[in-house]
Amino acid sequence: MLKVRDNAFMNKPALTRTPIHEHLTERWSPRAFSSEPISKEAIVALFEAARWAPSGNNSQPWRFIFSTQDKPEAFEKMADCLAPNNKRWAEKAFMLLTVVVEQHAPGAEKPNDSAEYATGLSVASLTLEATARNLYCHQMGGINRDKVRETYNIPGGYAPRVIIAIGHMGRLEALPEDLQAREKAERSRKNLEEIVFETTWAEAAKL
Ligand SMILES: Cc1cc2nc3c(=O)[nH]c(=O)nc-3n(C[C@H](O)[C@H](O)[C@H](O)COP(=O)(O)O)c2cc1C
Repeated sequence: MLKVRDNAFMNKPALTRTPIHEHLTERWSPRAFSSEPISKEAIVALFEAARWAPSGNNSQPWRFIFSTQDKPEAFEKMADCLAPNNKRWAEKAFMLLTVVVEQHAPGAEKPNDSAEYATGLSVASLTLEATARNLYCHQMGGINRDKVRETYNIPGGYAPRVIIAIGHMGRLEALPEDLQAREKAERSRKNLEEIVFETTWAEAAKL
């Protein structure tokens, strides 16, 4: 069931040809976050969701570093790793989460070529657990990776990938005007025919 909010346009459900799970239609990436705290239990649940994702050879290449607003000094350190255009809205979220990929499993001969794929899967699980708890995630590739490495002393073989703003949805009016317009923009996706093939490459599946 759709959650009713004060700002009707903050409901931006995915439009689908056939119904899918509400946690999938409800998920989107807002910029308007409130600083309402996230419970410890919910934070643990997010990481449990991520931990139980599948990965090649069960390699579990994902690593997470998180920071919450109730520890302002540490929170500011993570916010400072964001690109300025992300920091201006993302630092309002209660939680920031840095996602790091283990590129080479210890002792393995070759780099783990499915590490990025698996880490994305774990974040997808975390994101859906968040949605189920009426929390929102906004992933950001716009970060200073060198600064993340330096700030957290991340060793070689581990690569910072994104920082995710996580929190309760805030009010549109609290965003700067230019961001309000982006927040209200319609969501869009490629059609199924552009991404699902049958028989041969690029032959649109008849769905
Ligand atoms: C790997 C990745 C990097 C992203 N980087 C940014 C970013 O730096 N700044 C931003 O505002 N949004 C960023 N996004 C959010 C996307 O723009 C957003 O997911 C996409 O437009 C689809 O919108 P939706 O999540 O609301 O469905 C990123 C998303 C992903 C998955």
